[in-house]
Order: sequence, then structure tokens, then C-alpha cells
Amino acid sequence: MKNFTSVHDVTDIDALVQTALACKKEPFANKYAGVNKRVGLLFMNPSMRTRISTQLAAKNLGMDTIVFNIDKDGWKLELEDGAVMNGTTVEHIKDAAPVLNAYFDILCVRTFPALIDRAEDYSEVLLNQLIKHTNIPIVSLESTTLHPLQSLADIITITETFKEDRKPKIVLTWAPHIKPIPQCVANSFAQWVNAWGKADFVVTHPEGYELKEEFTKNATIEYDQHKALHDADFVYVKNWSSYKDYGKILTDGAGWMLTPGHLSATNNAKVMHCLPVRRNVELSDKVLDSVHSIVTQQATNRVCAAQAVLSEILNSN
Ligand code: CP
Repeated sequence: MKNFTSVHDVTDIDALVQTALACKKEPFANKYAGVNKRVGLLFMNPSMRTRISTQLAAKNLGMDTIVFNIDKDGWKLELEDGAVMNGTTVEHIKDAAPVLNAYFDILCVRTFPALIDRAEDYSEVLLNQLIKHTNIPIVSLESTTLHPLQSLADIITITETFKEDRKPKIVLTWAPHIKPIPQCVANSFAQWVNAWGKADFVVTHPEGYELKEEFTKNATIEYDQHKALHDADFVYVKNWSSYKDYGKILTDGAGWMLTPGHLSATNNAKVMHCLPVRRNVELSDKVLDSVHSIVTQQATNRVCAAQAVLSEILNSN
């Protein structure tokens, strides 16, 4: 594995999940694998889970990490080729990237979409510019369209939870929110579940919230949430703003917040969310505080997911 920016960088999802589960069982089994290697973690927006879990994962492998809040502490970056930099941007990515390349052995980056211009967000300009202007491995800590470390942790969580000899039914359900939220987590979860190919996969949302077909292609799209939830083994709850009417909130989503009533039609489903979650907006207290919720298990698995990815990168570079 050279880079880790989407499921397309993974040759065998189940093998990576097994590596992660081995890391979870024995976190320090390869504690010298990354000695004298430095990992840079660049953040363009806030984070708790991604930031800490990646640092813990690197430490378990003996690596040093440096976190740089580039949005607050860095020079404002210019991303456009040929820009005349007489405005607010101070440093071109073409100049910053080679410096980061010299400082680090692995560079991890979290970007964030502006949710104004769909073509711009979906071009993943910062991630791609970093890949272009460096020759060290680049790991996405969430990009403008995807969140692959979260999705790997989600597949790990489903694998260790579901022990029946059949395909689980997984439902990704849209939930209400008070502000426009990126499609990254939903896109990425759909992309990974499809690539994994080991589930009956249903995506449910109000009309107008269709995700990009590239990510949902093998899923059943169901606009009736109650119908979608029937017999579900896992319900993944997430808000996202419209992809079609880009970045917009189209409805207050009354009735879409997951409550115990919604779960009655499921197969005693486990409920997932990437966190942070807005209680009693996206998910009710009664669900989050019940035995249905496996959100802490998901967040816990962010460590072994990151450790598996860093291990694969160390092994192959
Ligand atoms: N799920 C997730 O990425 O959480 P953070 O934003 O806290 O990193």
C-alpha cells in the first residue's frame, strides 16, 4: 500500500480487517516496526477520534507523530496552479509539500469541503496536490469526499459483531441535522460496503439526498425509512447535505431521527454512527444509551484501523 485515500488503495479488505483485529488483540506486537519514522498529521478542521486514534496507532508501532493544525497555525495555502498570489493566500502547496516531504516519512491529512462548489470539492484538490508534490505515503484522515479510516473501522466493527452464517442486512439511513454536513462519511461507508460485497446493503433518505452513484451503485435505494429498516442487522445513522442541490438542507427531516420505535422493525439491530453525534437530533438518547448502540466500539476500532493501515504502509515502503 503506497497511499491510503480510499478503498481503491486496499487489495484485500478482509485481510486488512484481520490485520486490524490482530493489532487490537496485541497492540504492541510490532512496537519497533516504525522506530525512527515520523508521521505528520495535518488538520484543516477539528477532530477528536481521528487525531488521537492515529497518534495512538503510530505510537503502538514506535513512530513519532507531529500534529499541525494547518488551518489555525499554518500559512494560508494556495492550491491553484498558476495563481497570482496577491490575495489572502501566503504559501503555495507546491512549495509547502516538498518541505513536508522532507520532514516526514508518512503524511496524514484531514481536509474539509466548503460545500459551495461541488466540482471543486469532488476534485479533492489538496489531497491530489499533496500526492503530486511529495513522494512519501499520504493517508487521508478524511477528505472532501471520503473518510476511509472511519469506514475501515466500521467494517472491522461489523465483522467482529456479526457472527451468523449469512450476509448481514446493513441500512445506511439519513438523519436530520441543524447545518449542512459533508457527504464524506456516507460516501465512504457506501463505497466500502459495496467493495466488501458481504452484506445486503440498503441506503434510505428523503428524495433529493441521493449520494453520488459511484459510491452507492450496488445498494438498494429506498425512500421509505420504515420499509428500509425491516429486518436490518445494522443501522448506520448519518446526516449529509444534498449532493444534487449541492450542500443544501432540503428538509427538516421530521420523523427521520432514529428512535426505539424505528428499531422495532429491525432484527434487533446494532446502531452505528461515526461520532460526534447530535443527541435528540440525529439519534435519540433512548437509542444511544441502549444496548443497540455500538458507537463507542466503532470509535475504539479507529485505533486498530489506523494501526493496520500504518503497518501496511511500513511493510510496503
Ligand atoms: N469520526 C470522526 O472522524 O471523529 P473526529 O471528527 O472527532 O475525528
